[in-house]
Amino acid sequence: MEKNVIVKLLDVNKKFDDVSVIKDFSLDIYEGEFITLLGSSGCGKTTVLRIISGLEEVTSGKVFIDNKDVTYLDATKREVNTVFQNFALFSKMTVYENISFGLQMKKIHNMQLVEKIMHILAV
Ligand SMILES: Nc1ncnc2c1ncn2[C@@H]1O[C@H](COP(=O)(O)OP(=O)(O)OP(=O)(O)O)[C@@H](O)[C@H]1O
Ligand SMILES: [Mg+2]
Repeated sequence: MEKNVIVKLLDVNKKFDDVSVIKDFSLDIYEGEFITLLGSSGCGKTTVLRIISGLEEVTSGKVFIDNKDVTYLDATKREVNTVFQNFALFSKMTVYENISFGLQMKKIHNMQLVEKIMHILAV
């Protein structure tokens, strides 16, 4: 069975001021695939991830998620999650509250929320 391309980068270029950091980069990530970006420090791995999540805008090229062109879609409107290299947890909240925060932002409430969190914690 042919798998779907979930994330597609097409001829992506990124410049910071006049410095070219990503040059003509294309990538297809298929459903269920586990992808790792490897490369020397400063080669652009984090920049690529930030472009996929919408935290950084491309200079040129296209970004697709689920076959939808999200190149200029705000980060908050993309179905993407980021686990940062350094912990980015709310230190004053419990584990439960940290997990529920993102779901509450998505307006998931009450039983559905509790059910989802308990499922995540049980895995
Ligand atoms: N906001 C920014 N403004 C200017 N230059 C930047 C910015 N972000 C990244 N860069 C530069 O872009 C290049 C790629 O950086 P990036 O952080 O993507 O590399 P990396 O592969 O993730 O490195 P590392 O392995 O150290 O995490 C580097 O030269 C970096 O200095
Ligand atoms: Mg990095």
